[in-house]
Formats: sequence, C-alpha cells, structure tokens
Amino acid sequence: DDLERLADDIRDAETVVAFTGAGISEPSGVPTFRGDDGVWDKFDEGQFTYGRFRRDPEGFWNDRVELQRVMFDGEYEPNAAHEALAAMGRDGYLEAILTQNTDGLHGEAAESVGDESAAEEADETTILELHGNSQRVRCIDCGKRVDGDPIFERAADGERPPTCDCGGVYKPDVVLFGEQLPGAVIQRARSLARESDVFLAIGSSLVVEPAASLPRLAASSGATVGIVNLESTPVDGSADVIVREDVTDVLPAIRDLVEK
Ligand code: OAD
Repeated sequence: DDLERLADDIRDAETVVAFTGAGISEPSGVPTFRGDDGVWDKFDEGQFTYGRFRRDPEGFWNDRVELQRVMFDGEYEPNAAHEALAAMGRDGYLEAILTQNTDGLHGEAAESVGDESAAEEADETTILELHGNSQRVRCIDCGKRVDGDPIFERAADGERPPTCDCGGVYKPDVVLFGEQLPGAVIQRARSLARESDVFLAIGSSLVVEPAASLPRLAASSGATVGIVNLESTPVDGSADVIVREDVTDVLPAIRDLVEK
C-alpha cells in the first residue's frame, strides 16, 4: 500500500528530507495557524508584521505576549511523530528535517532519542528551523541571542519593549510577516529539496512560501513526494503518495516499516 511504498523508497533512498508544519505539533497541544480554533482566528497577521515591530515595538510586544500565551501555554512535549522522525534520523534514514515550526520540538525529540548532535550545521540529521525559534529572542542592535523565557516573563510583567543590556530592543527570534527568510537558510532548504530522493511534507497546509514551492521543487527534481496531512493541500497534485491521517499514527507506522 501507500505506506509500504514510502517505506521502500525511504530504505532505498540516499537522501530523505522531512518538511514539517504546525500539524505535527498539534497532538502536542500547540495550536495550528489555520482551520478551526487556529491562531489566525484569534489574532490578525497584521499584528505581527516586521513593519509593526519597527513602528510600534510596545504594541507589538503587547500582542506577542498574548500570542506566546495562546501558542505555548504550559508544558508541551514532542509526540510520537516527532519521535519517529528523530529515531529515523538517529538511525541514518533521514538527512534533514526542515520545519516551519518555531516550537523547538524537533530538537527536543532528537535529544530524547539520543541524537544530541542533531542541530543546525551538525553532521547528523540537520534540523533547519526556517521560521526561527519562539523560545529565543534576539537583540536587534547587538545581535545577541538569549533564552526567551525570562524575557517573555519580563514583558508579561510590563517591560515594554524588553531591551538588551546594550539598550537595543529584543525581537522574538522568529521570521515575522514582511521579513525575508535568511538567504542562506532558504538556499539550504532548496538544495536539500532538489537533492532529495524522498521528500515528506508533514502537517502543513502548504499555502505560504516557501512551503508551497519546496515539495514542488522536490517533485520536479525526481523525488518521491509524500504528503501527510489531515486536509487536502494545493500541492497534492505534485505528490506521489497522499496520506490523510493523523501524524502520530502515520509517522510511527512508516518508521516501523522502514526499520522492520
Ligand atoms: P497551518 O496551520 O496552516 O496548517 C496545519 C495543517 O496541519 C493543516 O492543513 C491541518 O489539516 C494539518 N493537521 C493538523 N493537525 C494534524 C494532525 N494531527 N495530523 C495531520 N495533519 C494535521 O500550519 P503551517 O502549514 O505550518 O508562519 O503554516 C505555515 C506558516 O504559516 C507558519 O509557520 C506560520 C503561519 O503563518 C509564520 O509565523 C512566519
């Protein structure tokens, strides 16, 4: 069947790339952006543009504190889908995980399966966080990156906007609307998509760039493209295999077939 086909191709492939979106973290309790109860139902994308951050950092941080509360409230942990990918990475079946998520859960899963070298630039499975990481902030003047928790706490306590020791304003270390993805990151993602023999798009609506073009690029470069998503996507026509089931059922099943 479809999963067998994906598993066979993964076993035969030299380069397998997983590309993930909010749907992979939904079973961990992190809300998705679109669809019922999506984050963009509660907030307006316009509140989080780069232009607004520059124009009105106080207002931006007011809203960002709320967004952080809605998205990352309480404890959330990697689920069976993150863990299946991490285990396949550790076992040499996965070249890279490209993620649009900023929740850091792929990194945590890699650590929990004992693939601690998995990180940007490591030799093991590359985890490329295309949209940055919500658990970090970065000073827009001196460029220093620091753990976000204490800064979000300071912001929640009323420091608007939170600032670095150097006096510069902190910005969540994520890509805002109207902000370019770093050129090196997007080039790396594109070349991985081109090189891939199997490209799995997992839990993404595939409506924003570069999400929409990466699986198409992989397909036109000859990869087997699999889409794992509860709903249809605009890229379904370019896919070889479409699996419309929960990520926490599908990914462990693929892993079992690959590693059996
Ligand atoms: P979306 O919220 O647009 O899409 C999530 C997809 O996951 C939907 O198509 C759901 O059907 C699917 N899904 C949800 N739960 C699932 C589950 N348990 N199993 C399988 N599929 C499931 O999220 P993204 O595609 O990641 O950008 O959104 C892309 C970008 O748009 C985000 O990174 C964010 C947003 O604006 C920035 O913040 C820059």
